[in-house]
This record gives sequence, structure tokens and C-alpha cells, in this order.
Amino acid sequence: MAKETILTGIRSNDEVTLGNYLGAFLPIVDMAKQHADEYQVNMFVPDLHSFTTPIDHSKLYAQTMRNLRLFVAAGLPIDHQDVIIYRQSYIAAHSELTWILSCFTGFGEASRMVEFKDKSQKIGADRVSVGLFNYPILMAADILLYRAKWVPVGEDQRQHLELARDIAQRFNNKFGDIFIVPADVKAQSQFIDRDAAPRVRSLRNPEAKMSKSIDDPAGTILLSDNPDEAAKKVMGATTDSVGKVNFDWQNQPGVTNLLQMLALLSGEPQESINAKWVGIERYGDLKAAVAETTKNTLANLQSEYEATNSSQLQEKLTTSEAIARQIADQTLLKVQQAIGLRPR
Ligand code: TRP
Repeated sequence: MAKETILTGIRSNDEVTLGNYLGAFLPIVDMAKQHADEYQVNMFVPDLHSFTTPIDHSKLYAQTMRNLRLFVAAGLPIDHQDVIIYRQSYIAAHSELTWILSCFTGFGEASRMVEFKDKSQKIGADRVSVGLFNYPILMAADILLYRAKWVPVGEDQRQHLELARDIAQRFNNKFGDIFIVPADVKAQSQFIDRDAAPRVRSLRNPEAKMSKSIDDPAGTILLSDNPDEAAKKVMGATTDSVGKVNFDWQNQPGVTNLLQMLALLSGEPQESINAKWVGIERYGDLKAAVAETTKNTLANLQSEYEATNSSQLQEKLTTSEAIARQIADQTLLKVQQAIGLRPR
């Protein structure tokens, strides 16, 4: 029997923050390390998704390559043949299936996507692109082309995953078993284990996610930050006046964020970090510990990144993209046959 596929994409349109790294890159790389023998693991860069809102296009290609290099620097086992890495735009079937699926998606259904509603409200209906509206349909194509059952995504992408399931089921009901329907959200989180997509908060404003540096320079650590500067940002983190360390997102988000960062950075379970720190009264000691680990992690990662072998990466990309194209084209052909674009 064919292996089940684990598939995920990490976007490339911004600088990468420590929050992105700890929340998205690392859990997925760890999963690939653990599961490469039993599963097909697809990690790709959704570069076509990068400009659904305006970006600086002169940076896009370099950012895409940077993400791929970061996969490797973070430890993705690319010598494993069942781990493949690819760029969405290099596999033409993504675009083609998106068109087809868009004709099997309700306008109302797509209009209910919360991410679209939020972003289009911010940007304004006249300036928002049709591409942003279609974003989740492209994402459905990303998943369905590879018959992926397991799709590790953060909370904000769950609704899109549900949409992909709905589209696949509707299509299968009409045309027979064409797509593998990805596992539902509950099964996904059991498979992935709840903490796989943790959210690192801003150091300055711990109610909010760590986001782009322009909005919040002191609260955001970039992977490209000088490690000493990054340590200083941690020392300047906002805490609270409770005076005692607790793991409590509700009442002590700043301190809790530091505890979570410490667990993620060190790779130790949250419970053992908490056992060490909860109840301690000097926040400065906790900050110093997080600052030290942050500094070491950045320094290591930066040197791993510099040391990645570009020709080896390029070779892996070329083979992976050939494999991806073959799988994707097979699925696309089935769809084309089912809907009458190709003879059966
Ligand atoms: N939309 C995802 C995000 O913003 C990225 C993504 C695109 C993705 N296509 C995907 C994730 C397919 C999983 C599967 O995080």
C-alpha cells in the first residue's frame, strides 16, 4: 500500500521571525524527522500565495529560496527520498486545478472564509484582489493534488483545511473517488499533537502574536537579527506586576510567553520547564535564561544556514520537483477525465 502523505507549505513573503521558526518551521521539520520512514513528507513553498496581497516582487525569489534553505538549516532530512521539497509555482498543475476547483466552490462558501473577511475589511473591498478571495481554493489544490491525508497547519488555517475537505467530498460525490479527503481537524490535531503549531507572542505586547518587525521592532526577533541584539530584546520583554512566575496565558501572558519560548528553544517539554520555573519570583532570571538560549539558537541557526550546500539543495529541488510534478499531473489527469476535458 502507498504511504500516507503529510503535506505542508510555509509562505515566503516576509522576513522570518523567531515566532515563525519556532511555531512553523521547527515542528514540521521535527515531524519530518520522526515520520520520514512511514510517510511521504511534502514540504513546499507556496510562492503563488505570496502576492495575494501586494509585496515587493524584487525580493520574492530570494525569499522563496531562503525558506527552502531554512528547511535544511533547521534539520530537514533531505537525503531521505520520501521527503520532498518544492516550489508551488514550478508545478503547473496547482494553477490549473485551482481554476477547476473554483468552478466547484460556491461564491457564498468562499465568502465565509474568515481570513478573507478580515483582510479584505482591512484593505478595503475595492483594493482587495480576486487572488486573495481565491487563496483557499489554491490551498485546496495544493493539498488535493498530492492526495495528502495529514496537513499540519496553525489554527488560522483550519477553516481553509475544512474547505478543502468540503470541495473534495463534493467532487467525489459527483464524479467518483478522485480525491483523498484529508483527515478532519480533530484527527489532524490528534495526529500532530496539540502543540505542533504553538504561537509565539510579541515580546512587547504579549497579547498579540509575534509579527512583522515593522509593526513591532522591539517585540519581534528576526532570524537574521544579531544574536546579542536579540538577547537584549528578550531582556526588555514586557512582563507583569504579579511578581511570581506562572504558566497562565490569561493573566500573565508575557511571562508565559517566555516559558513557552524556553521550552521550544530548548526542545524540552513544557512541563519540565514549568517545573523548574513556576513559583520563582525573579523575572530577571527567567529572562536571562531565555535570552541566553535565544542567542545560542540564532547563532547556531545562522551558521547552519551559511553552511548549507547550495548545489545539494538545488539538486534535491530538481529531483523533488520532478516527483511532485508526476504525482500532481496524475491527479490532474483524473480530474480532467472526470469532468470531460480529456477522453477516459
Ligand atoms: N495558507 C498557509 C499559511 O498561510 C500556507 C499554505 C499554502 C499551506 N498552501 C498550503 C499550508 C497547503 C498547508 C497546505 O500558513
